[in-house]
Amino acid sequence: MQSASVSLTSSGSSSLLDNTSGPFSTQLNHEPFAFSHYLADAPLFDLARLADLAKTVIASNRGDRNHYVLFKAAESLANVSKQWTNFQPIDRVHEAIRHIEESGSWVLITGAQIDPAYQDLLDNLLRDLEVSCGVPLREQILWSCVSIFVGSPNSVTHYHMDSETNFLFQIHGNKEAHLFDRNDREILSEADIETFNAVDGSHIEFRDEFHAKERVFDLAPGKGLHIPVNAPHWVRNLDDYSVTMSILFYMREETRRAWVYQVNHLLRKLSINPTPPGKAPLIDNLKSGLIGCLTTRSPRDKQDVLRSGYHWLTKPASSVYRIASARK
Ligand SMILES: [Fe+2]
Repeated sequence: MQSASVSLTSSGSSSLLDNTSGPFSTQLNHEPFAFSHYLADAPLFDLARLADLAKTVIASNRGDRNHYVLFKAAESLANVSKQWTNFQPIDRVHEAIRHIEESGSWVLITGAQIDPAYQDLLDNLLRDLEVSCGVPLREQILWSCVSIFVGSPNSVTHYHMDSETNFLFQIHGNKEAHLFDRNDREILSEADIETFNAVDGSHIEFRDEFHAKERVFDLAPGKGLHIPVNAPHWVRNLDDYSVTMSILFYMREETRRAWVYQVNHLLRKLSINPTPPGKAPLIDNLKSGLIGCLTTRSPRDKQDVLRSGYHWLTKPASSVYRIASARK
């Protein structure tokens, strides 16, 4: 096995991934899969370094959605509340990360690439993923990001879904990732996906019967996991603290699929039963083309990439509705 001490800041050609360790080229955004990587001992993930990174990210936040830190008390009972709620003020986050083993905390550092060392890591990993996947990945990426999760022992990340393509790298500690098929309509209805793509902050509900359909991936340092766009999941740390990095990105085709779902969300609100994406390519092209035309050409953050076109489309409708309501 290749050394884990690969330089992350040089332009050397050593891969940070074992590209033979997973079905990168056939399963990208189709099926989740495990793989191996060489980052487990990288000094970029020492707790003291991550605590300083959190400070850097907090200082760089300018109200956009590219760089921010989320911090909350660790929870040990899975799927009992919404994942993206109950956050705490971030003034104690530096100490919480340094003492994560006993601080009882859950921390997400988003936009780590504001620090040039992590930008270098992102660049290197996207290059390696491009080789592994066998497609011109970087040409197809509209937005990308490094997020780092730091969690106390036995803490959970509740059931949720994400809008990004996710390559997750386990750095420290062992954890279980519980994944669900995004194409299983008993798990995730068309309306669920439409609402998720159209409405920022929307939430999907976990039901106990879903347990029978979950695939569990055991993650350890040096192991990775690909989570396809919109594949629901929840995660449990085992009896050590956990450091996990995610390389997240929007690909053009998956973003166009999200735009189709946004138009379908509008149609459903008009009591029209919309055609799901993939059934009628011409209709898909019309829907995604409409949103694409309205999407800003200079996005400031992922929200702009995903939803600026949809927001333009719905603004006039909202205004007309508001005016009509006010006249009643
Ligand atoms: Fe997630």
